[in-house]
Amino acid sequence: MCGIVAYIGKRDAYPILINGLKRLEYRGYDSAGVALLNDNDELNIYKTKGKVSDLESFTNDKDINGHIGIAHTRWATHGEPNDINAHPHISRSGNIALIHNGIIENYLTIKKELQNRGYEFKSSTDTEVLVNLIEDVQLTQKVDLFEATRIALNHVNGAYAIVLIEKGHPDTLIAARKGSPMVIGIGGDEFFIASDATPIVGMTSRVVYIENEEVVKVRLGEELHLKTIDDVEMTPYIQELQLNLESIEKGGFDHFMLKEIYEQPTTVRDTMRGRLHADLGKITLGGIFDYEKKILNARNIIIVACGTSWHAALVGSYLIELYAGIRVKVEYASEFRYRTPVIFPDDVVIAISQSGETADTLAAIEIAKDKGATVLGICNVIGSSISRVTDAGIYTHAGPEIGVASTKAFTAQVAVLTMLAIHIAELNGHLPKSRIMELIHELDLIPQKIQTTLERSDIVKDIAEEMKDCHNAIYLGRLQNYPVALEGALKLKEISYIHAEGYPAAEMKHGPIALIDNDMPVIFIATNKSTYEKVVSNVQEVKARHGKIISVVTEGDILVKEMSDYVIEIPDTECTYAPLLATIPLQLLAYHIAVKRGCNVDQPRNLAKSVTVE
Ligand code: G6P
Repeated sequence: MCGIVAYIGKRDAYPILINGLKRLEYRGYDSAGVALLNDNDELNIYKTKGKVSDLESFTNDKDINGHIGIAHTRWATHGEPNDINAHPHISRSGNIALIHNGIIENYLTIKKELQNRGYEFKSSTDTEVLVNLIEDVQLTQKVDLFEATRIALNHVNGAYAIVLIEKGHPDTLIAARKGSPMVIGIGGDEFFIASDATPIVGMTSRVVYIENEEVVKVRLGEELHLKTIDDVEMTPYIQELQLNLESIEKGGFDHFMLKEIYEQPTTVRDTMRGRLHADLGKITLGGIFDYEKKILNARNIIIVACGTSWHAALVGSYLIELYAGIRVKVEYASEFRYRTPVIFPDDVVIAISQSGETADTLAAIEIAKDKGATVLGICNVIGSSISRVTDAGIYTHAGPEIGVASTKAFTAQVAVLTMLAIHIAELNGHLPKSRIMELIHELDLIPQKIQTTLERSDIVKDIAEEMKDCHNAIYLGRLQNYPVALEGALKLKEISYIHAEGYPAAEMKHGPIALIDNDMPVIFIATNKSTYEKVVSNVQEVKARHGKIISVVTEGDILVKEMSDYVIEIPDTECTYAPLLATIPLQLLAYHIAVKRGCNVDQPRNLAKSVTVE
């Protein structure tokens, strides 16, 4: 959903901005631009449709001097991706340049008012409206840019993370945020501003996360000057950044997605570190310790999430109901926020989000809070908005996920939910102690079993070769493997653009079976013991209609294996833990198919990693 970077200091701004944009490109990559104020006070703006590399080629022969600049990589909301709609946008006088991540919902009304007063607009964006509104306030109220920004933002509805530079002020950046994320890095005699900390890593470890409706003046040689848009002075809270360079680089893999798939034995171990005590047969979840009573007394647990996180939520609902006996509802955050949900003050709402910035999930949290429910977060990005607005939470600790298609964040979320389910059962006595010991012991073995799953996944390349030209695919699973089917299908859609559907296996006969012929690959996740025979029947039904059967089975399987064209074996484990293993070959399958089809795996078309708009 757009990435923003800004720099001010003694160094050349351009390489820092470009490098920062490359690290943020996962947020949007349909156009990119940069504005630099050079030492002659000339404001040079370069922008182009395409990726950051296209911007680099475009600026090859241009003046890229300057020690202050702002840069943007876009995921189009208002107006198609083209050179004109790309950011930065400039004010009518040509004095102010602005980059923006978010959506100004009332921009048409503001645009009309400005047009009535003679303003003309070149682009279709809400951002060009905003920069002109700010300049209009500056001129009519005779205030400086900091004050003009603050006043103008009081007239704006929607979400924004903005940074502005102004001719004649080579030592100052102005920034503000609401809804969209923003972090400021404080160096010795330089400052960095970005959508997240990745462009700042390696530059400085002192950061300030800007809160909603705060405006900041970043001036060389001065402390940050922070205010709310209501004109209340704020004190910046400087934190230590916990990210290292290695974690945001490809480390020898062709793509971030592949690296992240292969990281899963480590990331799931990291998720459980210090929480799962196999030797003591217990689980501690420090982040939610003060809320355990609320969870135990919860009338319902409601999980809100989007995309892959929603699939993890489905796995979690299954585990919590089974182990802890508490009713769980799983909701798409985008639906939940608009459908007047019934929420009681004794409900516990859990928001799951890799980025911690998803706009719909944030809005769902606000609704739950308004109704008095306890709201917990399961986030990956430390310090993200969701982690800050929830009452308490559990970080997934999967490390930065850069590939747009989520992989290691999913298994980390499922690992957290598994620990949570067992922990509640530990506390409310829904399971006998001996069973809890078994579950904990087996969960401790999962990272090693993920490693084994990865080592056994060579067959996936052959399956990818077979499937690379197909137009459709169906993924089927039952119980906790149904979300695995959904997630497998989503991965394929996202990065290879092959249409894929995930279904509960037994639902096949109510519709999807009509699609099956010898061109249709059907991927079965057939690891459950309790419904194994049922799934065997479903496999037979597909075989009878000449579908191509690809199955993920538990090692030692005989029946499904015999009927399948291709088989992927995963190590034996608790049925309920199968998602932590069975998802892995499906991630690899989508990856290899996408590579064979020549798709851009890490930056699939039309998608963005962090969806900070509705
Ligand atoms: C986007 C991403 C998905 C992600 C979803 C929810 O659509 O492309 O990979 O699952 O947002 O994001 P969140 O950060 O809230 O988990």
